[in-house]
Amino acid sequence: MEFKAAIFTSAVVAMVLCSSPAFAQKTKSPPAPAAVILPPSPAPAPAPHHVDLADLLSVAGPFHTFLDYLQKTDVLKTFQNQANNTKEGITVFVPKDSAFASLKKTTFANLTQDQLKSLLLYHALPKFYSLSEFNKLSTLNPVATFAGGQYTLNLTDDMGTIHVKSMWSNPKISSSVISTRPVAVYEVDRVLLPMQIFKSDPPLAPAPAPAPEVAKASDEAPSPVSGKSSSAKAKAESKSSSSHHVGVGIASYLILAAASAGGLLLLW
Ligand SMILES: *[C@@H]1O[C@H](CO)[C@@H](O)[C@H](O)[C@H]1NC(C)=O
Ligand SMILES: *[C@@H]1O[C@H](CO)[C@@H](O)[C@H](O)[C@H]1NC(C)=O
Ligand SMILES: *[C@@H]1O[C@H](CO)[C@@H](O)[C@H](O)[C@H]1NC(C)=O
Repeated sequence: MEFKAAIFTSAVVAMVLCSSPAFAQKTKSPPAPAAVILPPSPAPAPAPHHVDLADLLSVAGPFHTFLDYLQKTDVLKTFQNQANNTKEGITVFVPKDSAFASLKKTTFANLTQDQLKSLLLYHALPKFYSLSEFNKLSTLNPVATFAGGQYTLNLTDDMGTIHVKSMWSNPKISSSVISTRPVAVYEVDRVLLPMQIFKSDPPLAPAPAPAPEVAKASDEAPSPVSGKSSSAKAKAESKSSSSHHVGVGIASYLILAAASAGGLLLLW
């Protein structure tokens, strides 16, 4: 009898622990009675749902270059602190490794430590924004970033595709890695390049792949026709590759989370 009660209690505890939106979907089958006792808890105030940015960035992506820079400069702590300890939360735009690789190595090697820090801080907003909120945010351009002062971004919503515009790049959000208040991490396909750090458009690395002609056309968009078709093609390509990465990234993150929830259950 007592043993049964204990099991029931831990089941309830497990459901509370797992009541983040991601889990709510996964654990749909278990005992019916619990549903009566527990309200469906749509949005419990800042749930103790701790997102570890380093863990997240190391399994999603690949975002190793960005994560390495964050760790080397300690900007990771600034972001994690904002994620842990503020009501506002944080939104981070994370460039893929390929975005860094497409720029010449000297682009970053030449930066001072302070410039590098500012560049990283420039990739985050000191507030959580869901994808749907970017729509109204775009009326507030230019938007302040974590780097403060003049380091602003312009957000535009082009029929559902959100672009994050810096002086020398205008990447789109190619996917959402996580978007659960208070932490949003969105993948972008180019590094954000503010004019405060880069006086001119940083040179691209010599392209290892073919078709530099096409990339050039879409960058400079000389005629509406060729610009449009090549960027549409690039869009389709990056879409298929990024959605694949994200699928894998989120799956492994869920597995990590599930494993830690499992650990908690065992402790009970
Ligand atoms: C964030 O919270 C986690 C878990 O409570 C903790 O381990 C970590 O040290 C915290 N980090 C910061 C920068 O506050
Ligand atoms: C980087 O620094 C090197 C050596 O200091 C210099 O030759 C080069 O022009 C610099 N590159 C850029 C892009 O500023
Ligand atoms: C952002 O928008 C503002 C206001 O529309 C404009 O003045 C500024 O030049 C834009 N910045 C960039 C980087 O496009």
